[in-house]
Amino acid sequence: METVTATVPGRVNLIGEHTDYNGGMVLPAALSVALTVDLRPREDRKVIVTAEGFSGSAERTLDGLATEHWSDPAVGALREAVKLGLLKGGADLLIRSTIPAGSGLSSSAALIVAILKAARISAASGISDIDLALAARRVENEYLGVPCGIMDQVAVAVPQPGQAIALDTATLDYALVPLPASYAMVVIHSGHSRKLSDGRYKERKEECDAARIAFGRDDICLLDPADIEAVAEVDETVRKRARHCASEHRRVLAAREALAIGDIPALGTLMNVSHASMRDDFEVSIPPIDALVADAVELGAAGARLTGGGFGGCIVACVARDRRNAWLAALLERHPQARYIDEVSG
Ligand code: GLA
Repeated sequence: METVTATVPGRVNLIGEHTDYNGGMVLPAALSVALTVDLRPREDRKVIVTAEGFSGSAERTLDGLATEHWSDPAVGALREAVKLGLLKGGADLLIRSTIPAGSGLSSSAALIVAILKAARISAASGISDIDLALAARRVENEYLGVPCGIMDQVAVAVPQPGQAIALDTATLDYALVPLPASYAMVVIHSGHSRKLSDGRYKERKEECDAARIAFGRDDICLLDPADIEAVAEVDETVRKRARHCASEHRRVLAAREALAIGDIPALGTLMNVSHASMRDDFEVSIPPIDALVADAVELGAAGARLTGGGFGGCIVACVARDRRNAWLAALLERHPQARYIDEVSG
């Protein structure tokens, strides 16, 4: 059978963290780091997957549960492709990627969505990008046991270079937001990796579930901040998680407005406040990332924050393009374990 190829980018989330499973807004943008999959359908149920450059090869089948192996997302994606009628059996897969894994840049979503897109080509199907994103989330939630939201899958399935996607995760409506040409959203890896499957992401999800019960509303991002403070009988950790979600959702709306009118100082302040909220209220930052963010701002970024699920990974900083080189050199000199990954601008 014929080999088909699909490429999808990594993404950076500019603002709106941990809002995507709480009924709120997110503002991710596609990067130039990307993942490519060559897929050749098979008649049997075998999956032969080769990840060029790092993990080697694995031979699996479509049957059975996830095994905590690096090839699990590929197997899960193929199982979903079969359920959607895009494939009849397994596949031979060759994966090439420049998206660093465990960095908060959606390498897992990119792999799953790329396989589903390749399967769509192979079947000459008209299934929409949003439906593929929903299928990719099912792979994470149901097959891999990662209780993530829908941001990463949509961000890599409907990417628009140079534009952010203002996505309402409750309705899946989205609008494209042009990024300024004179500023770069620079992505720096902290040197500390993390995994969504390590339990801490799930813990935050459970705390948000507790907030739903405590405040009597499913979309906790839409709670009135005053109501969050007014309810007396609430566990303080649960109150803090709800405070982050509600305030972060509002910051996404304000950031979108700031981008629309080109108010970069306002955008920068929102990014800085978002970081403080992730550090203090949602508690998903770590001290080396706090230091990296603080220095990014001290050295001249308009704003900076931890991006992605947290507990490690990358920061994103908004930097004027004419100061970018000097800023980057100074930041990496102060943080030798950090490294430049990518950037996006309009
Ligand atoms: C990870 C998850 C997303 C989202 C972010 C935090 O990237 O996959 O669904 O929850 O963390 O904003």
